[in-house]
Amino acid sequence: MTIENYVILRNKKLTEKTFELTIDAPELARLSEPGQFCNIKVSGELIPLLRRPFSISQVSGTEVTFMIAVTGTGTGILAKKQTGDELNVLGPLGKGFGIDDTFETAILIAGGIGVAPFPFLINKLKEQGKEIILFNGARNSAELIKLNFENELNSTDDGSAGLKGNVIDLLHANRKLFVNKNVKVFGCGPHPMLKALQDYCSTGNLNCEISVESNMACGFGICQGCPVHSASEDKYYLICKDGPVFNSRDIIL
Ligand SMILES: Cc1cc2nc3c(=O)[nH]c(=O)nc-3n(C[C@H](O)[C@H](O)[C@H](O)COP(=O)(O)OP(=O)(O)OC[C@H]3O[C@@H](n4cnc5c(N)ncnc54)[C@H](O)[C@@H]3O)c2cc1C
Ligand code: FES
Repeated sequence: MTIENYVILRNKKLTEKTFELTIDAPELARLSEPGQFCNIKVSGELIPLLRRPFSISQVSGTEVTFMIAVTGTGTGILAKKQTGDELNVLGPLGKGFGIDDTFETAILIAGGIGVAPFPFLINKLKEQGKEIILFNGARNSAELIKLNFENELNSTDDGSAGLKGNVIDLLHANRKLFVNKNVKVFGCGPHPMLKALQDYCSTGNLNCEISVESNMACGFGICQGCPVHSASEDKYYLICKDGPVFNSRDIIL
């Protein structure tokens, strides 16, 4: 784990409400694994006091990229950052995706900004020679963040791009692409989508990992501010320290 001020190399607009921030961060890049996150101080001012957590979206050489949706004060401040500004970043934090298992086909399910950790994951899966299918859904075509990955299928709630429906509908509709294969499912998105994915994978007995979000303060297990209930015992995990990636069978959302 490192904590440092990094220079912003690029702020690239993706959609009306989303953008990518890239920093030059050699040690952070070296230590990061797909599914891990960083806790970012959005400004040098006292307010907002708390850092904001963001998945590590891509690592390329010494560059680390975050894909961010504007949802409130902190992300609004980040959206205005420019090349040459500095960013104080704590990370990498948490446990990432398990990619060393014996599966042959990776099924990636993204809802909205939940696609953020997948560029980095896709790179690592490619290095391991895995087949990858990305199911990527959003509310509408304007909000859809396409990765333009060769094996990407899209859905939108209003049908303005790809299948009309949610990303779990898209998964159902394309079951033939992975049925009878040795698959592992990776999901990231809003809680209702993750719950539906938990049900889908439990019914189909599919191995599945989900990346879970919550409000966070410290980001590394001190403040107890990010609990999620264990599915097997009467106890809580901490999303920042025990996750954010969990086996979908292990937690109750
Ligand atoms: C592990 C993880 C990974 C994530 N990855 C991404 C990602 O890759 N891309 C992305 O876009 N989003 C990601 N998120 C969500 C992202 O962290 C939130 O969207 C972001 O924190 C919103 O910040 P905001 O200040 O814009 O929103 P706000 O709504 O203004 O604030 C966010 C939350 O912080 C709390 N808060 C704000 N100010 C205070 C205060 N002064 N005191 C106490 N609490 C306060 C509030 O409860 C609020 O709900 C991730 C979240 C987690 C947990
Ligand atoms: S954010 Fe502090 S314990 Fe998780």
